Amino acid sequence: MLSMARRPSGANVTHSSAFLYNWDMMLPHLDLYEAILARRSVRRYDRQPLDEATLERVKGIISTPQPLISDNPFHALLYDVPAGADLAKDLGGYGRIVNPPHYVLPYVLGQEHQLEDAGYRAQQIAVRLASLGIGSCFIGAVRREAEIRALYDLPENARIGAFLVFGHPSVAVGGRVTNQLIRLASGASRKLLASDIFFEEDFDNPAPPPDHIAPLIEAARHAPSAVNAQPWRFLWHNGRLHIFVTRHNGRYGRGLQEEYRFHDGGAAMANITLAMEALDLGGHWEMLKEAEPRIPKHPLGLQPMATLVLDEEG
Ligand SMILES: Cc1cc2nc3c(=O)[nH]c(=O)nc-3n(C[C@H](O)[C@H](O)[C@H](O)COP(=O)(O)O)c2cc1C
Repeated sequence: MLSMARRPSGANVTHSSAFLYNWDMMLPHLDLYEAILARRSVRRYDRQPLDEATLERVKGIISTPQPLISDNPFHALLYDVPAGADLAKDLGGYGRIVNPPHYVLPYVLGQEHQLEDAGYRAQQIAVRLASLGIGSCFIGAVRREAEIRALYDLPENARIGAFLVFGHPSVAVGGRVTNQLIRLASGASRKLLASDIFFEEDFDNPAPPPDHIAPLIEAARHAPSAVNAQPWRFLWHNGRLHIFVTRHNGRYGRGLQEEYRFHDGGAAMANITLAMEALDLGGHWEMLKEAEPRIPKHPLGLQPMATLVLDEEG
């Protein structure tokens, strides 16, 4: 369900971009798979709001991400950012995000896997915006969820995970430099390699992904994560792809912020789902609970998250 709102308070941030993909070319429509790989956090924006027609398309995008858990109600509140506001500061994130004209507050209700679902749906939004040439950046909310619920008058059981700011990336030279510096500072140019995150049959066996899985793992490795923690690990076992997340991660640090692993694991799953759509592959996710007999053997430090069951090729 889509909710719309305007908020008179402020925000403002920093941005990034442009290592692998040249945002400056501002290609209006990227192919979906290309958009998954090209999407990166943008922290400096053109302060102009999107035009009405583009905003209408954005409203369509934010209201229709696929659910991870179909019983979980999903809402996405859309706001304009008042000039001069500092969103990263006001919303409790890190870094600076400069001049984003708009932001979305996505939240998920329900009983199970709400944070995974929030990351899953919000990342679909981020990629579809990228495919229109619209830049975005998450601002983490996990440590401040109670405050944010109160501030935005959300239900007590709302899980938020992160805000998503968006707009046209700044093409000013200063903007590009800032984006690159912030990307370096947040470690974004250091994505783990497939060989660091993919294992075949057993976690003792890091291996290159088989050909038909490789584009899905490539999509997952490009997912965003808070402080670039990249908690996802993949095991190809008995013809199924299992995703795990690291229980503890030096980048997240200890405490509440470790819950980002659920949101960010959900974002990696979203990239896989979108890659399947782009490559015309069928299949579905089955969420995992701890200690189910069907979960393959894994190190204690990894937490089972979900299994991807691909349709048989017919
Ligand atoms: C849940 C979440 C919270 C984030 N919070 C912030 C933030 O507060 N400030 C910021 O500048 N970037 C934030 N980011 C962006 C990450 O730093 C970025 O995704 C990561 O460094 C990888 O870079 P990339 O998105 O360009 O691939 C966040 C990302 C996620 C997924």
